[in-house]
Amino acid sequence: MTSAVGTIHFPGKSVYVIHPEKFGGTKAFAKTRERSLMAGFWLAYDKAIGLSPGSKHWMCLPDDDEFRKALVKVFKAQFLDLGLLKHYSAGVDERVGKYWDERFTDGAPLKLNLGAWIYDDLLRAFSSLFWDEEGPFQDRELREQTSIFLGNLHNLMAPMEFLNSSQARRARAFVRQKLDTGHVDSEKSPDKTTSNGKGEEASKPAGLLAAIRQHLFQWDAYEPHAWVDYQISVVAVVLSNIVTAIQWTLLYILSRPELKAQIITEIRTLVEHCDGVEGSTGSPVIDAAKIREYCPHLLATWYEMLRMNGAVPVARYITDNAVFMSKYELKKGSIMVSPMAVRHFNPDIWGPEPESFHPERMIKDGQVNTDMTRQLGTFGIPGVGICPGRYLAFNVAMSMLVKMLVSFDIDCPEGGMLAQGIVPKPKGHMSLGMSEPEQDPEVLLSRRAGAASVKFDFTNIKPGW
Ligand code: HEM
Repeated sequence: MTSAVGTIHFPGKSVYVIHPEKFGGTKAFAKTRERSLMAGFWLAYDKAIGLSPGSKHWMCLPDDDEFRKALVKVFKAQFLDLGLLKHYSAGVDERVGKYWDERFTDGAPLKLNLGAWIYDDLLRAFSSLFWDEEGPFQDRELREQTSIFLGNLHNLMAPMEFLNSSQARRARAFVRQKLDTGHVDSEKSPDKTTSNGKGEEASKPAGLLAAIRQHLFQWDAYEPHAWVDYQISVVAVVLSNIVTAIQWTLLYILSRPELKAQIITEIRTLVEHCDGVEGSTGSPVIDAAKIREYCPHLLATWYEMLRMNGAVPVARYITDNAVFMSKYELKKGSIMVSPMAVRHFNPDIWGPEPESFHPERMIKDGQVNTDMTRQLGTFGIPGVGICPGRYLAFNVAMSMLVKMLVSFDIDCPEGGMLAQGIVPKPKGHMSLGMSEPEQDPEVLLSRRAGAASVKFDFTNIKPGW
């Protein structure tokens, strides 16, 4: 690109491509008021998710609309608050540990598909933390059908409904019906006391969904089906990205024996430097804040994965005719997009061979090089929009990866792609965020003796991703 904006014309609409680095394009992007993140979501997935007219109404509001800004504040209050960050991170850790205890009962090795395993545990854990009570996703069939539904959105986009995959249509109908709790009681008290899993009574903060519901109920055009849409969007946006990110990181680690050995050595050192132990079992309690210090190659793998697989274009729907940088006309109904790949594969930033996976490029003097990691645009562009869940994503991903590598011997079947050092390619079709891998390889998991109750302490974590 030789200017701030390039335009691709399609019948009835245009795509304006904003240079993510040069010519001041991103600053002007941030200043454009006629833009909407959620309208882009609506445009892409209206048909596939079966969004209701009530959802279209609020999703198409510009990003700087007061109602929409207040909704983003709800997310920020939930995910950027340090106390809640610790609560949610510890909540996921505790629940995932419990699900593993249920799943790996007799010590016999289990064959599982990596992505499906992570997805199932995290959906259950997030449901328990974000929804009222334990949330709807304790129901295994609902989790399975949600996976089929969201994994097949591209198969639900045909202009005529009968052309869509019947399995995906059935899954969508099942999920929508199960989540249609109808006229939920908006007066329900958001603060309630629940068990924290240790037999003590602890205060469970008003879950994310309760907070959002309270906000949506104040919306004039609210209608009950919008609530189903909202729950689906939260699972689609929040869960898909974090599951996919953990899955990619593991795929890189498992396909590279030397990297895996190096990371496991670092984790051993981390465990040796943890002074806490679980009272009842004597198992180590790992200080989550120390992962940064002791596991530079794990972190470097995470950031290199975010660079390679998280070059997701920052996109906005244009809600009204506008003029960009005093000279480019933007047409209502068009799309503005800043392709992060230009930045993420720029050799001037990342050094030689930016198209290859090379975590060492993220390390300087034995520690993660923050001058590099701050160049990543995986979570969005400052001023345009940044993911409010980025700190939680980091803490959940790091603790879960360490916990997996401490708790299991993970063997890749001989002759399979991982054993041959091959990482699957990303899926080619449009996705809700990071593209998933084309294949979800099977691995053999054997639980290590004594690793059953490895836990994390998040007391000392700081905001950061
Ligand atoms: C590695 C995992 C994740 C990645 C790569 C990611 C990335 C992103 C990106 C690129 C955006 C759009 C930013 C923008 O253009 O304004 C976004 C939005 C969002 N993310 Fe994340 N995210 C991840 C995990 C999470 C998690 C764990 C949560 C919550 C628990 C979360 C909650 C959200 C929400 C609520 C929005 C929409 C904010 C809005 O409406 O303005 N994300 N995320």
